[in-house]
Amino acid sequence: MKNVVEPLLEWYLKNKRELPWRKDNNPYHVWISEIMLQQTRIEAVKKYYLRFMERIPNILELSRIDEDELLKLWEGLGYYSRARNLKKAAIKIVEDYNGIFPENFDEIIKLPGIGEYTAGAISSISFCKKEVAIDGNVMRVYARVCNKDIDVSDIKIKKQVASEIKKILPDRPGDFNQAIMELGEVICIPNSTPKCEICPLNKICLAYKEKTQELIPRKIVKKEKKEEYLTVYLLIYNDKVALKKRENGLLKNMWEFPNIEKQLNINQLKDIFQNSQSIEEAILNTHIFTHKKWIMKSYLIILKQPLLDYDWVTLQDIEDKYAIPTAFRPFLEYLKKRH
Ligand code: ADE
Ligand code: SF4
Repeated sequence: MKNVVEPLLEWYLKNKRELPWRKDNNPYHVWISEIMLQQTRIEAVKKYYLRFMERIPNILELSRIDEDELLKLWEGLGYYSRARNLKKAAIKIVEDYNGIFPENFDEIIKLPGIGEYTAGAISSISFCKKEVAIDGNVMRVYARVCNKDIDVSDIKIKKQVASEIKKILPDRPGDFNQAIMELGEVICIPNSTPKCEICPLNKICLAYKEKTQELIPRKIVKKEKKEEYLTVYLLIYNDKVALKKRENGLLKNMWEFPNIEKQLNINQLKDIFQNSQSIEEAILNTHIFTHKKWIMKSYLIILKQPLLDYDWVTLQDIEDKYAIPTAFRPFLEYLKKRH
């Protein structure tokens, strides 16, 4: 592996992408971007990142942000506990470190929402510490360069790879970590054929030599996701619609249209909402999370009286202030078209 360092750094310095969070190595910028980039594509992150920085330019502001506003800024990125943890971590940095981001891996990793990968990325990129940042891209590049048929999702194997890469880290560990990730994102790509002809490592890569680059890393068959059936109530009273805040679990503190975890037919709905003016079937939607799949059927229910359990808001209020998870977005779009 040590032969990769020089060609990789040279390639990175010539080819690195201009990204909004690469203008400086400010730990706040690196932190927010790395959290957003977990589970979300770079292209999609750019606009969220710029808007976030405009509204919350530093750690102190983040520690004071209203959670509803924070979730609204995060709306559409998914995995909302990431946003809630950002605020918790900012409060801790303000309280324990006078608002100044800690420099050492061991301190950084104790912050809420920050794991091995993110702590390694921040300490190497912002503070030039010799720490590794191993993501799926790094695992794939490693497996191919060494032509090793490893299970890249195995935590034990990831630890071994981390310790091997740590030994070869150069004096610019932040550049090295970003270079190998970026190679995995733009050249040594997953799923389709890697671009070996233009890869700076093609002279040392063993998978390329053995023509195994498309077989490595081996695909692990994923478990089937659990299916859950939901009935979603689009409750209308005058020009307002009912919303409810999720109190816990998945999507905690996000706003949703009232729903139950059962599939109901229209007669059952007529029983529940006896006081309605009309009930009709609306749209279907499915949404896939990491571990489950929601199959959602919605009904449009016009009420004669508002129900007290809910917040009654206009569609414009929702756009302005209420963070709606992506799973419920299509229902909002449906209601907007109806108007
Ligand atoms: N993917 C996630 N974080 C990255 C970074 N800092 N550089 C390149 N690719 C990345
Ligand atoms: Fe990946 Fe091909 Fe480069 Fe090897 S030569 S690191 S397989 S892109």
